[in-house]
Amino acid sequence: MPRLGQGTWKMGERAGLWETEKQSIRRGIQDGMTLIDTAEMYGSGRSEQLIGEAIRGMDRNGLFLVSKVYPHNAGRRHMRESCEASLKRLGTEYLDLYLLHWRGGIPLRETVECMEELQAEGKIRRWGVSNFDREDMEELWRVRGGEKCAVNQVLYHLGSRGIEYDLLPWMRERGVIPMAYCPVAQGGSLRRGMLQNAAVQEIARAHQAAPMQVLLAFLLKQPDIVAIPKASLPEHTEENAAAALIRLSDDEWKALSDAFPAPDHKTALDML
Ligand SMILES: NC(=O)c1ccc[n+]([C@@H]2O[C@H](COP(=O)([O-])OP(=O)(O)OC[C@H]3O[C@@H](n4cnc5c(N)ncnc54)[C@H](OP(=O)(O)O)[C@@H]3O)[C@@H](O)[C@H]2O)c1
Repeated sequence: MPRLGQGTWKMGERAGLWETEKQSIRRGIQDGMTLIDTAEMYGSGRSEQLIGEAIRGMDRNGLFLVSKVYPHNAGRRHMRESCEASLKRLGTEYLDLYLLHWRGGIPLRETVECMEELQAEGKIRRWGVSNFDREDMEELWRVRGGEKCAVNQVLYHLGSRGIEYDLLPWMRERGVIPMAYCPVAQGGSLRRGMLQNAAVQEIARAHQAAPMQVLLAFLLKQPDIVAIPKASLPEHTEENAAAALIRLSDDEWKALSDAFPAPDHKTALDML
């Protein structure tokens, strides 16, 4: 699985941006961000359609497509239909990874059975979850086949490090890959604070990089983290892809970590 991919939430929603966003996805693929994350929820399928158009004619084996099923569709009644609709919009025969978007009312046992069936049929290669805290993961592990979960996609960035307390160590012990969403903190005052931080700026200068790239480099320094920044603009995508080339030293990583410390106690899982 590529370490750095492309998020696509809110993409495909504005007709005037359609072509630019298509270019952005293509640019990202050219630059090595071949993992593309989407969901049936995003733009009610328009994100998947946009990706489908962007990747048309490309070598499917060179891509890693991730989509997510709504919790209320993650059961025997609707999951196959949901998955097939995602495949159709994306114009592909299979997903590399299919995630339960967040926990809902359908029993985990039923969701796991449906995921396993889709995998056996070749419609998905692997499956995982999203927005699961440690207790949810423990519950999943008590379900038969639950330990086949490959990925937990959670909110994680320099300014939100709650998962490091107990979720991340738990996942690491069991080989569940952490996929960081909102890796550049989406926007707003929290992100502004991070970008203006002295340690972030100094490290950016030292690497002749943009502060935004330092946020990604912080995550990628940890060898198992997959990050999926979203960028509608090709120039942002290009910048994000180049962040994969930044190698932070241990001292630089520590300086960032000290500037934005992880909590030393359990906190509620951050989510959007
Ligand atoms: N599983 C879940 O529940 C869940 C929840 C949220 C997100 N996600 C996934 O994770 C992906 C990433 O999260 P996100 O989209 O919420 O937030 P994000 O990737 O942290 O931030 C996206 C924002 O940052 C801007 N940006 C990105 N790179 C930039 C750069 N180099 N320079 C300047 N601005 C830059 C984008 O601008 P432009 O778009 O204008 O280029 C956009 O406004 C989503 O797209 C989605 O695929 C999953």
